[in-house]
Order: sequence, then structure tokens, then C-alpha cells
Amino acid sequence: MLQIIEKAMISCNLIAARSRILCYRSFATKLTEHQTAMMARGLPKQAPLPGVRDIVVVASGKGGVGKTTVAVNLAVSMARMGKRVGLLDGDIFGPSIPLMMNLHSEPFVNDKNMMVPPQNYNIKCISMGMLTPPDGAIIWRGPMVMSAIQRLLKGTDWGPLDMLVVDTPPGTGEVHLSLTQHVPIAGVVLVSTPHAAAMEVTLRGAQMYNKFKVPIFGLVENMRYSICSNCNQRMELFKDPEGKSFKGLPDTLVSLPLEPIIAECCESGVPVVIKYPDSEYAKCFTNLAMTISNMLTQRKQTAEAAKDDVRKLS
Ligand SMILES: Nc1ncnc2c1ncn2[C@@H]1O[C@H](COP(=O)(O)OP(=O)(O)O)[C@@H](O)[C@H]1O
Ligand SMILES: [Mg+2]
Repeated sequence: MLQIIEKAMISCNLIAARSRILCYRSFATKLTEHQTAMMARGLPKQAPLPGVRDIVVVASGKGGVGKTTVAVNLAVSMARMGKRVGLLDGDIFGPSIPLMMNLHSEPFVNDKNMMVPPQNYNIKCISMGMLTPPDGAIIWRGPMVMSAIQRLLKGTDWGPLDMLVVDTPPGTGEVHLSLTQHVPIAGVVLVSTPHAAAMEVTLRGAQMYNKFKVPIFGLVENMRYSICSNCNQRMELFKDPEGKSFKGLPDTLVSLPLEPIIAECCESGVPVVIKYPDSEYAKCFTNLAMTISNMLTQRKQTAEAAKDDVRKLS
């Protein structure tokens, strides 16, 4: 498997070198028609992922705000609603899906040279963490990261999926760009804590997706409050309980408490929606899954109705 990734990296370096030469030539001389056509051909084209109906991206400007926690519990909640779900760990440098999903085996490669994603809790998962040694540092540059995410996305035999949830690294870097350029994204779930620094960069992330015309489902606000285990009272951890600090960000889909049980479940590799399915925390994730599922259904119905209108007119 490492050989496959290495080959991809080498070809990626070649492509980068070739594009540098192309750029140099294009500045040195006037572009011919042929060169223009060649360069246009080199631009990535969006194509649906075979067998995958909807791709949902979980993103945030900051690290440590709960993206992976949300991605895992959203995926498991969707599967508990009867959907066929996959989970792609797009955090190439800090993959934590193997830990949170308790999946550490290397994927098999089938006769079509595609990776067969290991499964747990009814979710098919792929992560760079399954392909690299746990103590091996990953030191890659932009084009290599883009190539790696493409390999994980398109080199996996996902089979028929209703939804592929993609966990992403913090920020708006290569992984986000690569995803938006290569596959149609049904929508983005933004995750942020109420810290000013986290919200500021999350807002920038939202602006990037808006620029690429990728729909945003809304915001999951994490760790705004906590529930006292003795008196069950809600304790606000931030000064602005009305959430004015989220100004400019998309609507809040759900607000998750800071809860040691959620952290414990992540560490033990059993998502909270599996370990405590009847808890309030699990309900938060189920509500999130239902909201997103309803938004997708509504959007499809609207698109169908619009098509019908066009058919009637023509
Ligand atoms: N609502 C929460 N309550 C308690 N701990 C949380 C909560 N959300 C996330 N965590 C913990 O915070 C840490 C970072 O979460 P993670 O999902 O890995 O963030 P990110 O993917 O944004 O870096 C993890 O240890 C996780 O268990
Ligand atoms: Mg993460």
C-alpha cells in the first residue's frame, strides 16, 4: 500500500516539475492555441465519486475544536438512521479517525487495485493513519498532500454509499481546495468553539466555501456550556450566552456541551452515540444527522420541482 502512495507522490512531483516548466514557458512566450488547450486540460475537473450519493465535509479554521468528534458521531448517527455511510479522514498530518473509530488495520487492495475500507460500527473508513507507521512523521508539501487526498478519495472502493463524511484538517489549505476542485460537495458542516480566534478563522473558512459555491449546512458550536453532573444546571463557559460572537457565521445547527463523557468515548474508540445511545449528547448528534438529512431531501425535492417546471415550459 505504501508503494502505491509513494508512486503517487513521485508522479505528483513530476507533475509539479512539469507545470513549473509550463508556467515558465507561458511567461517567456505568447501562448499558442495548443498551449492554451493543454493548460485547460490540466485543470482539475469535478466528477462525482462512483457509487457515492452525497459528500458531506466537516471543517473548521481551528484545530482541537471537535471536527473529528463531530465527523465520527455524525457518520455513526447517519448509519443508525439506516444510511450506508463512509468516513474519509482528510487530516493527512494528524489522522485521528483510526483512534476514534478503533480501526487500526491496513486496508486490503482488491483486484481492481482499489483499497477496501476497513469497517467498524457499520461505517467504511479510510485514513492515512492506516497506511503510515504510528510513529512516522509525515512531512509533505502542497502537491503531495493534494495527491494523497485524491488517492484516499478515488483509490478506495467505497461501494454504494448514501453519504461519505469527510473529516478535514484545520484551515483552508490543500485538502479543502483539492476536495472542492475534484468532487461535488453536498454541503459543509462548520465546527467551532466560541473562542474569538476560532470563530475568526472559521468565518474565513466559510468565506472560502462560499467563494467556491459549496453549500454550507450550518455551524456546530462546541463547548459553549457544560451541564453540572450534580444539579443538572447549565453553566455558561463564555461571556456571551446569546451567541452574539458567532455573528457573520452560518446558523447554528446544534450546540454541544463540554462533556467529559464525550472526550472519554473519543479516547476509547467507541463514539458516544454507540456507547450511550440514549444520552442527551447522543441526541444532539442524532438531531444534527436528522437536520442534515432533511436539508438534503428538501434540496433534492426543490431541484426536482424546478426540473419539472422547466419540462412543462418546454
Ligand atoms: N464537546 C466536547 N466535550 C468534551 N471533549 C470534547 C468535546 N468535543 C471534542 N472534545 C475533545 O477535544 C479533543 C479535540 O477534539 P477533535 O474532535 O479531535 O478536534 P479537531 O478534530 O477539531 O482537532 C478530543 O480529545 C475530543 O475528545
Ligand atoms: Mg481532527
